[in-house]
Amino acid sequence: MANYEKLDHWSLKAQKEGYPARSVYKLKEMSGKFGLFRPPSGSAALKALDLGAAPGSWSLYALRKLEKRCLLTAVDLAPLSRQYDTGLFDGENFCFIQGDITAAEIREAIQARGPFNLVISDAAPATTGNRAVDTLRSLALAEAVLDYAETFLEPGGNLVVKVFQGGDTATILKRIRELFKTGKSFKPEACRSESFETYYLGLGRNRNIG
Ligand SMILES: C[S@@+](CC[C@H](N)C(=O)[O-])C[C@H]1O[C@@H](n2cnc3c(N)ncnc32)[C@H](O)[C@@H]1O
Repeated sequence: MANYEKLDHWSLKAQKEGYPARSVYKLKEMSGKFGLFRPPSGSAALKALDLGAAPGSWSLYALRKLEKRCLLTAVDLAPLSRQYDTGLFDGENFCFIQGDITAAEIREAIQARGPFNLVISDAAPATTGNRAVDTLRSLALAEAVLDYAETFLEPGGNLVVKVFQGGDTATILKRIRELFKTGKSFKPEACRSESFETYYLGLGRNRNIG
């Protein structure tokens, strides 16, 4: 299949299935492969944090999959799209915080909703076309996401974080492997083949270390 046809395939599928972004299929694949959306044993609900959530496909996926068994906090600089939402973004089990995940006041607002069993982040900087600059900015975001995982994830919790390959991503993976029982990289099928993004997963947050 030609590359442009593949792009169309994921975008059209997203439209058809009522998601504002094709990125939902990246999460769906990781969810199926790594069992990310299971409430911890003994808990009625999974407490999840979606960092860099707009336009909202990942949040919609979580809410549709688990319904009330997901207590979800989503954060982004930009507002969520309401185009495909059928009221889930107004539910009591959902909270959207608009702002910068690296800002102190946003961190406090997130802390008030924690701790969490799952942190997912598709956060990406606005790209400049300069790969070195874009990669550095992506790394800074991934570090910020790891700070959240380190501080606010319950033992046993899981992490998904997007990184642009090319910079010092080895440091990110090393830190994930210190914090989790398993740390790995995974490139979902729905990633554009020419894209230099990939995802790192931390599975099974260790009890507090250090
Ligand atoms: C690829 S989009 C996320 C798509 C989303 N997962 C979905 O499925 O709809 C990346 C998002 O990261 C957000 N972002 C980038 N830097 C951020 C920051 N410092 N704080 C909060 N959000 C940020 C952008 O505003 C953008 O909406």
